Parts: sequence; C-alpha cells; structure tokens
Amino acid sequence: MCGIMGYIGDKPSERILLEGLKKLEYRGYDSAGIAVCTEQGMKVVKTKGRIAELEKLLQKQPLPSGAVGIGHTRWATHGKPSDLNSHPHTDTHKQISVVHNGIIENYLELKEELAAQGARFVSETDTEVISHLIASYDEGDIVRAVQQAAKRLRGAFAIAVLSEREPEKLVAVRQHSPLIIGLGEGEHFIGSDIPAILEHTRDVYILDDGEMAVLTRDGVDLMTTCGDPVTKQQFRVNWDLAVAEKAGFDHFMLKEIHDQPQAYRDTLSGRLFKGYPWVYLPELKLTPEKLRQFRNVHIVACGTAYHAGLVGKQAIERWARLPVEAEVASEYRYRSPLLTPETLVIVVSQSGETADTLAALREAKRHGAHVVAITNVVGSTVAREADDVLFTWAGPEISVASTKAYSTQLLAFYAFALHLARVRDTLPDEEIGPIVLALSRLPDQVASILERAEEIRSYAEEIAGHEHLFFIGRGMDYAVAQEGSLKLKEISYIHSEAYAAGELKHGTLALIEEGTPVVALATQPELYEKTVSNIREVMARGASVFGIASENTVDLASRVDRILLLPSTHPMISPALSVIPLQLLAYYASVARGFDVDKPRNLAKSVTVE
Ligand code: G6P
Repeated sequence: MCGIMGYIGDKPSERILLEGLKKLEYRGYDSAGIAVCTEQGMKVVKTKGRIAELEKLLQKQPLPSGAVGIGHTRWATHGKPSDLNSHPHTDTHKQISVVHNGIIENYLELKEELAAQGARFVSETDTEVISHLIASYDEGDIVRAVQQAAKRLRGAFAIAVLSEREPEKLVAVRQHSPLIIGLGEGEHFIGSDIPAILEHTRDVYILDDGEMAVLTRDGVDLMTTCGDPVTKQQFRVNWDLAVAEKAGFDHFMLKEIHDQPQAYRDTLSGRLFKGYPWVYLPELKLTPEKLRQFRNVHIVACGTAYHAGLVGKQAIERWARLPVEAEVASEYRYRSPLLTPETLVIVVSQSGETADTLAALREAKRHGAHVVAITNVVGSTVAREADDVLFTWAGPEISVASTKAYSTQLLAFYAFALHLARVRDTLPDEEIGPIVLALSRLPDQVASILERAEEIRSYAEEIAGHEHLFFIGRGMDYAVAQEGSLKLKEISYIHSEAYAAGELKHGTLALIEEGTPVVALATQPELYEKTVSNIREVMARGASVFGIASENTVDLASRVDRILLLPSTHPMISPALSVIPLQLLAYYASVARGFDVDKPRNLAKSVTVE
C-alpha cells in the first residue's frame, strides 16, 4: 500500500523523508517521490521504481536544501506505475504538492470540472485532482483551501499538502485512510504509519476520519475539515520498529487477516448502491450488448485464486444463468478448451504475474475470447494483457499464504455476477436488493468475527498435534472448504482434505477414525439438514467435529463437539465470512507447530515459472 512521510523543522528534509519512506518499504510500492520547499521554490523529484532509484536521481540532480517536505511511496491504483503517475502531484502552476493514500471515487467528474477551468492534467491518477482542486480554492490561505477541497472529495484519502506560498506549514487530512502526526522538539512529522516516524519520536496524534492537522515548526493544530478545533490525547508508541511494521501483529499473515474489513470496504467502495443500478463497474469496457452475447464463461486461475473462482462460478451460474467452468490454469491451457468469441474468460490472479494463468489468458485471447482479469496489482502483466480488468483493492499482500486477496476476489466476483445478472435481466430487483445489503454489511461482520480469534486459537492448538484433518461442506461451503484446507496445508503442514460432505460416504469415510478432526461448514439453509446428516455420519465413526454455521442455526451446537456461529448473511455471500475462521485456524495451527508462518517451506508468493 502507499506510504506517506512529511517533515517540517530545521533539519534538511530530504534525508528524513527518504529514511521515513524506507521504513514503509515493507508495505510494497512501485514508485517513490518527494517534494521539498527550498530557497529556490518547491522542487519535486519522483520516479518509477525503488527508493534507491530516487536516491540515484537525487545524486544526479541534487536539491537545494529545504527543511519542509513531503514524500510518498506509491502502489499503483489509478494508472500504471510510471514517473508521471508517481506522487507528489502538483497543480498547473507547480505551487502546491500533494501526496495521497486511498482512492478518490469522484475523480473523473472533478477532473472534467477542473480541466474545463483550465487545469492541465499530466497523469492518469485520481490523486492529481486533489492538487488542482486545492489550487482552485487557494486565495492565499492553504488551510482553508484544503478544507474546501476536502468537502468535495468522495472516497478514502489520507493526504499531506505542501504549498510554495506558505512554506512554514504542512497540512494533513485523514478520511478513511490512516494518518498520524509525530511530535518532536521544533520539528513535526506526518506518517501514514508509525514506522515512518519512529526514529524521530514516539509521541503521536492518531487522526480520526474527518480530521486534519496543520503543522508548523512550533506546533500542531488539530481541527475537523470544517475548521472546528479538535483536542485529543497524545499516544505514546511503545513498540519497536519490527513490531510496528506489522502494525503490532506477530506476522504479516495475521495483519493481513485483520486488514480484511478495510480491504472489503475499499473493494466495494464506489461499486455498490442501495438502489438502482445496485452495482456500478465503470472500469468495465464491456458494453451491456456485448455482455448479453456471451454464451458461456470460463474461470481460470491457480491456487487460492482458483478457489475464489469456485465461488465465482456458483454466483454467476445462479444469478446470471450462464454455464460456467472453473479450472486450474495449468490444466486449462493444455486441454484445448472449447473457446469461441462468445466465451467470456475470467482470469484471477492476486499478483497478475503467475505464469500458468498468463499462459491461459494468452491462449484464450488467441481463440478470440474476451478476457476479464480480476487482479490486485495495477500494471501487472495480467492487468495489461486482459481486455478488461476488475481490481481488488486489497493492498499489497506480503505473507505467502493469501488471505485478503482471496476474500476481495470473492467480492469482485459478487459485484461482477450481479452486474451480469442485471444486464441479462436474470435476477429481479427484489433479489438484488438483499444481496447488495448483505455485501455492504460484510466489513463490520468480518470485524466481529476477528474479535473472536481466541476461540479459533484454542481449537487450532488442539488440532496442532494431528497429522490429518478433513473439511466438509456442501455448495458454497464446499467451495470455501477447499480454500480452508489449502491454507492449513500451506502453512501448518498438516495434511488435510476438503470434501463435498455428501461425497464422503463414497470412499473417504474409511479414513475417519476415533478422534479424527473434521471441520464442518453448515452455513447454507437449503443444504443444512443434508449437511447435518453427513456430520452425524462422521461423528458416528468417532470424528471430533468443529462446526461453523450461521447464527440462526444454533441447534447445531448440541450436535457437534465445538461450534463457531457466524453473523447471518445471504447464503451466497457466506464464503466472505466463513473463510475468516479458516484463515485464523491455519494461522494459529502454524504458530502452535512453531513454523515460519509468512514464509512456508517450498512455496513462493508469486510463481512465474510453469
Ligand atoms: C502461488 C501462491 C499462492 C497463490 C498462487 C496464485 O502458488 O503461493 O498463494 O494462490 O500462486 O497466485 P496469483 O498471484 O496468480 O493469485
């Protein structure tokens, strides 16, 4: 995810900004830049690539010294990684510089308005509208201009603003994207995360949504974006740097599991509406006419992304009534799939670089199929080569075991399937409404499941001594069981299998013996009784069952050894909730067995060989 660093004081800011940005490198980025107010005015230096590239550039063209500046590491969202798209962004007269984390949902309409007033845009980013917008309100008071601009911005933003005309000030605003202010002696700092400033101070203000800070050398004024003063407690950071990078979590995987409420919000943001048109995917080039012409869908991916495809298949078939095949990419490309221009191919890839998935994408295009990619990385090969892209806004995923990328892929599938259904007129509004409502409730529901992590930890510690485990479920539960089983294998090295609950009796039941742990998912009302019968079958053979069901199926509690009840949701959406305890189970089992959770043996985050 992007990183922000800001400095105002008496020291040369360039080094402080660069060192601060380096502390945020672990978050992942593809370009970096700084803006500094110097004796010769404001200077901006930025480049695609690592901070080391930026340092080389600064060695070649040294900056005059300046003690006020802002810096940024960008992880591309709107617009590919490039020098021009890197932050900071300026207004037409290069007097205002802005760095931004988050997404501006209404940037297109603002861009049009500002361009009509004469603003000259040079990048493809949403961020650039912020600098032009602030400039359009700036009549000599940068704080007021930022306040007025903030009122016009929709979406998520943490921004730091520097004005050449008022170099004794730095302005910071937070709205749905984290930002902190570091407090020093005669110097103050802005950081998108604590590691950026920890070398200089442990005293911080943590801004809340709708708040802003005006920093000078001598102090920090806090206020709302409407200008009302805010008083808040200073926070003293008592962690060290290594812990801070993981936001206080022991591992990146646990941090990324906990990132999910925000990742859900970001992925759904601007795409869902509680009324017509319900779903809006402006990034799709596919017209409604073209969408109506497709006769079938192929979903192709690897690993966890393939498991997201299994959920996507059911959503598209059920809502948009099109036949869907989901297949792993390494098989798909060699079996001469039946592709025509009426086949819609959806490739799913967190990294956008997986060799097998890319090969499948190229094979599909060679046969004239239209390819939509679901990916997390803007500028990745998959994103560049697909005809259409739906980005998941999960932010960079560092742990090898994928968590928030999978769950946001589910959301991209739900949004796409609803869009397709609406265009094809296969789902009445009375059915779309409750689904959209259920989707909008997910972030808070995920947060409530995360609060119960201890329940899962104690079960994980129980199974940690076992060598085999089974996951069972039907329908959507079976799809998510396969992801739960993969997660457990990947990081705890416990052998596990996911089985369609009704299929167990046709062979695998022979493996169930006294004490065999079985995780049974029973979230689907239509299939509930059937799944309960399958649970009885394994329990009768001695299995110890951990049930995962919806809170309105409490009667399961009396039938299994342990139970976790999930907040109730629409049955088709339940994987977006039920995968959370499965991720936690794998995580805590790995911890209990003493393994390197974030870097499991033999595995790589991105597999770029066949
Ligand atoms: C590797 C990773 C998996 C991932 C798979 C597909 O095997 O270890 O976690 O699911 O690649 O990656 P992609 O980036 O294409 O989603």
